[in-house]
This record gives sequence, C-alpha cells and structure tokens, in this order.
Amino acid sequence: MDNRHIQPQEPNDQGTCSQAEAADSLAPIYDDYTRKHRWRCPEKLFSMMEGLFQPGQVLLDLGIGTGQSAQPFRREGMIVYGLDHSPKMLEICRGKGIAFHLQQVDLNTARLPFPDCLFDLVLASGVFHLLPLSEPLIRESKRILRPGGHIAFTFDPWNPDSPEEYLPVSLAGVHAKINRESGVCSYRHTVDSLLALLMKNGFRILKGETFIAFRSPEDQRPIRFCAWILQATR
Ligand SMILES: C[S@@+](CC[C@H](N)C(=O)[O-])C[C@H]1O[C@@H](n2cnc3c(N)ncnc32)[C@H](O)[C@@H]1O
Repeated sequence: MDNRHIQPQEPNDQGTCSQAEAADSLAPIYDDYTRKHRWRCPEKLFSMMEGLFQPGQVLLDLGIGTGQSAQPFRREGMIVYGLDHSPKMLEICRGKGIAFHLQQVDLNTARLPFPDCLFDLVLASGVFHLLPLSEPLIRESKRILRPGGHIAFTFDPWNPDSPEEYLPVSLAGVHAKINRESGVCSYRHTVDSLLALLMKNGFRILKGETFIAFRSPEDQRPIRFCAWILQATR
C-alpha cells in the first residue's frame, strides 16, 4: 500500500472529523481505560518537569483530553489552558474544574489561538502519534512560549522492527497507518527527525527518557514511549 496520499483529515459539516469522532467515543471511558492499562505519560512528564515550573505560571496542554496530564500541574498552582478537537473530551475535562480556558481546535489546521509569549509550558502527552506534526505546530508552540519556557511531550517513536504495518509518508521521518475499522490515522516519528524539527525552530534539548507508557490491551505487552523536555531559546 502506498501511504503518500495520507493527509490530515478534513473537518466535516459539524467541524469534527473521524479522528475527533473516535476521541469522542472514547471520552466517556477514557479515564477508566487508561487506569486499567496503566497509562503513565502524565506522571512521567510531571516528574521530568520537577524544578522547571512555578505556581502561577501558565501551561497549554495540546490534546488535553480529559485533563490527566494537566491535573498534577494544576494541583501545584499552574494556570491551565487546553486545546482538543474532541468536544466530549473537553466536556469531561471541563467537569473536573482544572482548566482556566478550554477550546475546540484541530491542531493540524489551526494557528494556535493565543498571543506571542503567553505560556511558560506547552504539554503534549500522547498526542504526537495522532498528528503528522508538520512544522507549523512546532513553530506555533515556539511563538506562544515565552523565551526560556518549556515544551514537554511524550510520543511513540518509529520502530523499524515493529510488527505493525506503518509505511513512509511524504514527510521526512514520518510513517503512518490507517486503522481500517475506525478510519483513524496514526503516525510514528523518528526521534531524530522530531528533535531536529524542534531545534531548527528555536528549542534546545534538556532531557529525554524512554519508558513504559502502558500495557497493550491485547496481550499486556509493555509499550514504550519517549518523553522529552526542550527549552525555548531566547
Ligand atoms: C491519547 S489522548 C491523550 C490525552 C491527554 N493528553 C493524556 O495525556 O491523557 C489524545 C488526545 O489528543 C486529541 N487529539 C488528537 N488529534 C488531535 C487534533 N488533530 N487536534 C486536537 N486534538 C487532537 C484527542 O482528542 C485526545 O483527547
């Protein structure tokens, strides 16, 4: 199969697309599901950010979902903004009362709806594997971070030995697969290509780790993600 035609999906008449619809269906069970399969991205990012943020600082969570990754930062006094394309995820997050501002935005298409230098921290926990992550999103993340602010993210890196059928697309370092049942497209980025893109756009690397992000629902096999913290240069 040739995947070069794979493009971010276009919104339908309701302003959503099947990626967002899939997230909508998962939303009511997301917290139970992630607990059951031992989703560790939120706590990993929180522990890696220790000492790098302060109460009263402002964070933006890209693909905030139900708010699991933002929640520990909120408990420590940060002000939380969140974007997601799934209205149902946003509704559940809103119900938790942790966010100052939530907005429905497709991260593939939008200029981020914020002024320059508003944020101290941009989080993206378990989101980059759902985005082709073209350069505009990284450039936008840099624009809205104050100089010296941080971006903290986890992702499922490209593994050439994976038994899954990911194929190269026409973006350097990106492989993609469409789930035939749900229509959801997921992406695998190489660590090198993702970090190169970030450094090209004004970030410097602080630290990175590989860790077990969750257990496969099918066979309980450990699924390894990378977590990285980079800093916006002045
Ligand atoms: C695996 S969940 C992670 C949620 C949360 N960050 C966490 O750590 O639990 C992925 C989230 O990204 C959102 N998402 C995926 N693609 C998106 C896009 N193109 N624009 C906005 N949000 C997106 C989904 O709706 C979902 O809430």
